[in-house]
Amino acid sequence: MDTCVTTNAPERFTPNRASLGSGEQEIIAESRKLKEVLCQAEMVAATNCTVIIQGDTGTGKELIAGFIHQRSPRRQQALIKINCAAIPLGLLESELFGHERGAFTGAMAQRLGRFELADKGSLFLDEVGDIPMELQPKLLRVLQEQEFERLGGTRTIQTNVRLIAATHRNLAQMVEKGTFRPDLFYRLSVFPITVPALRDRPEDIPHLVWHYTNTYARQFNRQIESIPVAAMESMVNYSWPGNIRELQNFIERAVILSRGSVLDPPVRELIRLNHQVPVEPITLRDMERAHILRTLEKTNGQLASAAVLLGIPRSTLFYRIRRLGIVLPNHKSGKATA
Ligand SMILES: Nc1ncnc2c1ncn2[C@@H]1O[C@H](COP(=O)(O)OP(=O)(O)OP(=O)(O)O)[C@@H](O)[C@H]1O
Ligand SMILES: [Mg+2]
Repeated sequence: MDTCVTTNAPERFTPNRASLGSGEQEIIAESRKLKEVLCQAEMVAATNCTVIIQGDTGTGKELIAGFIHQRSPRRQQALIKINCAAIPLGLLESELFGHERGAFTGAMAQRLGRFELADKGSLFLDEVGDIPMELQPKLLRVLQEQEFERLGGTRTIQTNVRLIAATHRNLAQMVEKGTFRPDLFYRLSVFPITVPALRDRPEDIPHLVWHYTNTYARQFNRQIESIPVAAMESMVNYSWPGNIRELQNFIERAVILSRGSVLDPPVRELIRLNHQVPVEPITLRDMERAHILRTLEKTNGQLASAAVLLGIPRSTLFYRIRRLGIVLPNHKSGKATA
């Protein structure tokens, strides 16, 4: 690995952060796409509106749910969480709505469900797409009427819950296939938020890399001061199918594997996983040109962001663009601005 050319963690890497309150996790949001998501989340947080957060695995759906609760007028009350995919089907109804003593074999005592526990607070209903059809009418009723009965009970219970749901599934497609009720889909879709995949916001990658490098360096008592440019480039170009969670785990491993003050990430793993097919040999100049063009495409022609991704000063990038005869679509007579 090229350990000569490294990027330090300078001020310009200080990412935009949205803190969830003291001691809570930070959200790194440098890309325009994620900033927009946080902006929407902040706006809807102030209301009582039901929110559905969609996005691939590991994109930060649960983090955004916490952000919405923390920015809402209900922040002093509980945020109750339940993952519908992680609970056996037979138990889900009782977990959500509670049960009376003797409601079923083994129900030795009355138990409150999450909708009751979340009263006056928020309920994070994770993997809502995994709720079985037979339970969906009861969920719709509690969302519409704010009332339900415990399993085995006859008394109607009122609850005042703000629902934040999440799913990695395509609910619209499930509706088409008949596996999700359209009325519940529409009720949930009042305010949809889609968290983009990491590969669609590569500007966030260097900031997340530094964020987790610092986090794990602190945790493992290491002193990491720089990251090789080539390694950063490999990480920016990797597609991260597991999104931020995958990046986080990768950096944890990288910090453990690093001996000195330079991060030594196992980037060969990323190249292998990217299934890069060897291409016909091309000149270094052509490769540099193609790489710069690809990076500019990712940053919508923004020179400053492209320079960050490439790990070089903006002036150097500008110089190379002119030398390679790259024409910037947004700039007249080859003049570029950030
Ligand atoms: N923008 C971000 N800044 C910092 N950390 C992040 C960011 N987004 C996600 N993470 C971290 O990545 C990990 C995965 O996030 P989270 O659990 O919210 O994803 P998810 O979309 O709910 O995943 P899944 O679909 O697998 O449940 C968490 O450790 C979270 O703190
Ligand atoms: Mg989740």
